[in-house]
Amino acid sequence: MTTATATRGLVEIHNVRKSFHGTEVLKGIDLTVQPGEVVALLGPSGSGKSTLLRTINHLETVDAGSVTVDGEFIGYELRHGKLHELREREILRRRTEVGIVFQNFHLFPHLTALENVTEAPLALKRLGKDDAAELARGLLDRVGLAHKADAYPRQLSGGQQQRVAIARALALQPKVLLFDEPTSALDPELVGEVLDVIRDLAKLGTTLVIVTHEIGFAREVADGVVFLDDGHVIEQGAPDEVLTRPQHPRTREFLAKVLG
Ligand SMILES: Nc1ncnc2c1ncn2[C@@H]1O[C@H](COP(=O)(O)OP(=O)(O)OP(=O)(O)O)[C@@H](O)[C@H]1O
Ligand SMILES: [Mg+2]
Repeated sequence: MTTATATRGLVEIHNVRKSFHGTEVLKGIDLTVQPGEVVALLGPSGSGKSTLLRTINHLETVDAGSVTVDGEFIGYELRHGKLHELREREILRRRTEVGIVFQNFHLFPHLTALENVTEAPLALKRLGKDDAAELARGLLDRVGLAHKADAYPRQLSGGQQQRVAIARALALQPKVLLFDEPTSALDPELVGEVLDVIRDLAKLGTTLVIVTHEIGFAREVADGVVFLDDGHVIEQGAPDEVLTRPQHPRTREFLAKVLG
């Protein structure tokens, strides 16, 4: 939810194009996400949602156009009017400003929940061991898992693993948090606990971009809904507008399908 206090996490996407092996999958995307705003990204399979999300933290380079967070390019710098890709080290540093949570959690299997959360702050030398552990305990508490700090991923349910993954993403205090279908791999009874955590984050004023098929959740939590179809943004606006009175036939078709 947009809050008056949110001052960081402005995402500006200008005319972004991306091809794989000659096939264009992002065909000139323009999108602005305000600081603290929660945007739900919807669209059919293959429409480019994950690719777009990945361009925001430079897991994917762009062929044309630009993506900035608070005016800064994540993967590039502007020199003499041209964009140059940054060195890996600098990209890694800037990428920490944009956290990402994947469908399949991607936790380190050989590390405990606590160690999964402390790993990045320690590796980046942001914090000492004790401070990192204290931060991690606080974050695990925030996602309702203080009692699972010493558990390994295999000892946790999917919902619990995803909540650890969210705590891990928060450990670097990102300006923007991206979610790529965070509940799609979960059994239905575990979806709610993960959505509850995301709902709390939305209230705290972190900019969130969430790819999801949970239309009810999008309607309740998102400030804006964006529909992607075949590499284009075909419709965007307030959830009540877009989800209740979609204008574009492809949006109507998609909603009819996911709402059954
Ligand atoms: N690394 C890659 N190499 C080649 N093609 C890719 C790559 N990543 C994505 N694509 C292609 O780009 C298109 C868009 O993929 P993307 O994963 O962004 O879609 P999506 O909207 O996230 O779909 P889904 O809902 O199934 O997750 C697809 O046709 C996909 O096959
Ligand atoms: Mg995807």
